[in-house]
Amino acid sequence: MSIIKSIIGWIDNRMQLSDSVVSVARHPIPAEVAQKKGWWYVFGSVTMTFFMLQVVTGICLAMVYEPTADAAYSSLQTLNYQTPFGWLIRAIHYYAATGMVVMIVVHMTQVFLMGAYKYPREVTWFFGVGLLGLTLALAFSGQVLRFDSSSYWGVGVLASAAGRAPAVGPEVVHTVLGGQYIGESTVGRFFAVHVFILPALLVTLLAGHLYMVIKRGISEPPKPEQPVDPATYDEQYEELLKKGVPFFPHAIYRDGIACAIAVIVVVALAVIFGPKGPDAFPDPTIIGADPRPDWYFLPMFALAALCPPSLEFAFIIVAPVIAIGVLLAVPFLSGSGERSASRRPVAVMFVTVTYIVFAVLGWYGATSPWSPQMDAWSGDPVPVEMVKHSSPLELQGAVTFQLQACRNCHALDGVGGKRGPDLTYVGSRKNRPELIRQVVQGGGYMPAYGQQLSAAEIDALVAFLAARRPAGEPEAKLPVAPPIKGDSIKGRAP
Ligand code: HEC
Repeated sequence: MSIIKSIIGWIDNRMQLSDSVVSVARHPIPAEVAQKKGWWYVFGSVTMTFFMLQVVTGICLAMVYEPTADAAYSSLQTLNYQTPFGWLIRAIHYYAATGMVVMIVVHMTQVFLMGAYKYPREVTWFFGVGLLGLTLALAFSGQVLRFDSSSYWGVGVLASAAGRAPAVGPEVVHTVLGGQYIGESTVGRFFAVHVFILPALLVTLLAGHLYMVIKRGISEPPKPEQPVDPATYDEQYEELLKKGVPFFPHAIYRDGIACAIAVIVVVALAVIFGPKGPDAFPDPTIIGADPRPDWYFLPMFALAALCPPSLEFAFIIVAPVIAIGVLLAVPFLSGSGERSASRRPVAVMFVTVTYIVFAVLGWYGATSPWSPQMDAWSGDPVPVEMVKHSSPLELQGAVTFQLQACRNCHALDGVGGKRGPDLTYVGSRKNRPELIRQVVQGGGYMPAYGQQLSAAEIDALVAFLAARRPAGEPEAKLPVAPPIKGDSIKGRAP
């Protein structure tokens, strides 16, 4: 016994734990939080527990997972069917991710409705908003790593939206995808983001969040008619803490119980339902795929399906940025005053409306066809007017165009899908090499057709496309090599 005591004494003496870790663990909290109302305060701990579970299971998965377009899919199959307990680890990783998203939203809702973000805890809230963004980014990038048909098209939707960003769009897409189109480097990019960048950022913000929670204390349960006044609040809170109780052990056991239940639920779900996917093999030529993101992204997915391509950038990229901005602005808009939800009708309405909008969009995303334009036009033949004076090769191209259902995404003469540009006059915008490249490699949001068309078919298709120009206008020119600087022999200006 005395040996243990002297070991503990030695460690404490050298590391000075009693006035750091121990005193932090025993920091006083409002007495009420150590009573029944304390159950409202466990959601943050549960979110963090899920994150720790993600780190542990994620490391296990990373040992088997291969982040390349070729091998990702089969390495998931290996995990599901060969690696001992691989299926279980994958399933836990999936359900804990879902749990993390759910619990962080529950936690924020509770903090918002209880006015806990108000003075002096605004910075705690800012860190929390950052953590929400990172959690969603982790969830999305994780889904991409499950490199199946849903994840393939998920990246496609995102890339096509980002590609429409003014000026920088193409560069952003190039960086995200690691090239012109979803390919070899895409999975590697998302892997690096998912396992290094986002977790590192998350741990950093989490440290800030916890520092603030301890430094500024947790809020006392709100009461009506007790508004927060920055001039007097600190004093009142200090008074409150004088009658407070230490966090350890009076409050921490609630967190412990909640976290234990949460872990048990996740493991039970994992055992009962098993790992998620991978669903169909990612095949860019299956444009009739019926991909769905994981359910908490369905509202976003519905937005993507509902809005016309010209608004995709606004809805998919700008809207989330605005949403984060609104959340960050909350403490500035109502950083003091009443905290009790019963005295804050606007706040309650805000939460209600947000939840209803997300529920409706989510329902729409779960039930509606992915992209209403996808199948609508495939039966339409090429307009007769367009092929009246065509050469045999161009006619053959028109047939290929029809058979490949290019009009699912492209309009001719204004009629057809709107996913890609109208091709009526594409011949005067794009020269033949560019047309070949587009058809063979796809790019942006267009599938690559190189694998499924013969050279002769591509030839015909390109002849058909090159002939799409206003009467009398010449074909788009081949690129000319740019003049070499200081090349005076040819007399060109630099
Ligand atoms: C899944 C939808 C989809 C299908 C199917 C599709 N495309 Fe596309 N296509 C697009 C998108 C989106 C773009 C714009 C790509 C970009 O922004 O880089 C595009 C671009 C093009 C362009 C360049 C147009 C321009 O003005 O720059 C050509 C040419 C083209 N597609 C031809 C075809 C042909 C031929 C077929 C059938 C074999 C086809 N597409 C099938 C979505 C599609």
